[in-house]
Amino acid sequence: MSDKGFRTLQEKRQAANLGGGEERIARQHKSGKMTARERIALLLDDGSFEELDKLVRHRCRDFGMENDQYPGDGIVTGHGMIDGRQVFVFAQDFTVFGGSLSETNASKICKLMDLAMKVGAPVIGLNDSGGARIQEGVASLAGYADIFLRNSLASGVIPQISAIMGPCAGGAVYSPALTDFTLMVRQTSYMFITGPDVIRTVTHEEVTKEELGGAKTHNSVSGVAHFAADNDEECLHLIRELLSYLPTNNLEDPPRIVCQDPVDRVDERLDSIIPPESNKPYDIRQVIEMVVDGGTFFEVQEQFARNIVIGFARLDGGVVGLVANQPAWLAGVLDIDASDKAARFVRFCDCFNIPIITLVDVPGFLPGISQEHSGIIRHGAKLLYAYSEATVPKITVVTRKAYGGAYCVMGSKHLRTDLNLAWPSAEIAVMGAEGAVGILYRDEILKSDSGVARRQELIDEYQEKFASPWVAAERGYIDEVIEPSQTRPKLIRGLRLLENKRDSNPARKHGNLPL
Ligand code: HXC
Repeated sequence: MSDKGFRTLQEKRQAANLGGGEERIARQHKSGKMTARERIALLLDDGSFEELDKLVRHRCRDFGMENDQYPGDGIVTGHGMIDGRQVFVFAQDFTVFGGSLSETNASKICKLMDLAMKVGAPVIGLNDSGGARIQEGVASLAGYADIFLRNSLASGVIPQISAIMGPCAGGAVYSPALTDFTLMVRQTSYMFITGPDVIRTVTHEEVTKEELGGAKTHNSVSGVAHFAADNDEECLHLIRELLSYLPTNNLEDPPRIVCQDPVDRVDERLDSIIPPESNKPYDIRQVIEMVVDGGTFFEVQEQFARNIVIGFARLDGGVVGLVANQPAWLAGVLDIDASDKAARFVRFCDCFNIPIITLVDVPGFLPGISQEHSGIIRHGAKLLYAYSEATVPKITVVTRKAYGGAYCVMGSKHLRTDLNLAWPSAEIAVMGAEGAVGILYRDEILKSDSGVARRQELIDEYQEKFASPWVAAERGYIDEVIEPSQTRPKLIRGLRLLENKRDSNPARKHGNLPL
């Protein structure tokens, strides 16, 4: 090759590496954000990044854009390794037209996603963009729709992860929303369909960007995001950690590691973790940590619908997804948000061959007009549906309450759960003793001279007879009642048993999940 050819290549590469130029890079740093290239370098294993389409230029000829060119056109795309495993990544470059999405910019993302689907490897999107490239109009909107289509078709085939590391507004939010996990950086990122100015004009409400769609809001109120990080570095580290629990695609198993924690370890603290009074809370996370390998639990959506806990851990070195009612928050009741949160997680695990462990301590569904009017029926049905259709290994442990419809929903035997265990403290019944006695014996209590005492006597009787694991165990709805301290070895034996489990659903185009 001629010297000129080498020189030209060098110059073009350098120009692309510089994005929107030194001044804009300095501005990006000043606002507490890394550049697209810095982010990719930190995300991937050292030196593993292979860039694609570095020299792509936009084709816009309006608004004098023909003379405003940046090689790469505001997005860095390519592939590389995370912990030695293949991933694809795109990072919007805010220093070039505010990371806005042009026609060519979108086609770079689509090309990457198409390749990721052929190869079968996760796609990670690092979002930092002012939205549609205004100068390109409808061509940009078309680009978004092309991406949304690919997000939808890739769902359940390859893991898709979105990090929001700057603005993400308008219809642009729908690409992250279609992916499996969304991470947000505190203070520098926000997501909303319409911003504070439009809201002020239309509804006369006053709100800041952060309150409307910052990391805190989406992690605790809306449930749109799954993780929040303090800065770019922490966010990228979290993505690496998350991927360590996920398979590369739906035909593979998640990575198994050598288990350092004895598989037959019993933890006697579990035998006394349930308080003597049935309505006293305890932290289900402590139970999880006492059971799983090395006490390491990677919680997902920690701040949202805290009455249910979801996340990944390892047992015997293999990845499991945990779904657990949290008695320490709203008594672990199932409401709309908890149902949605758990249903989506169960479905994710089922897509990607991750066994589901369910820990049950649920007093029932949350009563209330607002829950009913907001559709608790439809939302609760999602969780029921998710458990029913899941064909991965499923093991359920009832630690305490499993009442009413919530008993059925939370991975009961009747939903094809493979192994159903219960602690002796389990209360499996149609409803709590007080409610049942109030209905069954209302007249008797009213007529009785010693109404209060008689009521208590009947409650104790009901409690003794029905609020236990025994009736369910007698019917085979519970396979075994175990000492709580035995939970870890029992779960591991169950998972080993189920390692080659094969189950399927009826042939159909797809089911009709109640949305
Ligand atoms: C083209 C854009 C742009 C855009 C920003 N820029 N957004 N260029 N199209 N959408 C450019 C700016 O002109 C500026 O160029 C540079 O990016 C940085 O922007 P600043 O405004 O200086 O940065 P900042 O103050 O940090 O504000 C960021 C911002 C703001 C909040 C994102 O730029 C903004 O409001 N942009 C417009 C957002 C918008 O309305 N987008 C379209 C939404 S509709 P210079 O040359 O000065 O560096 C949409 C529909 C999607 O997205 C539908 C999908 C279905």
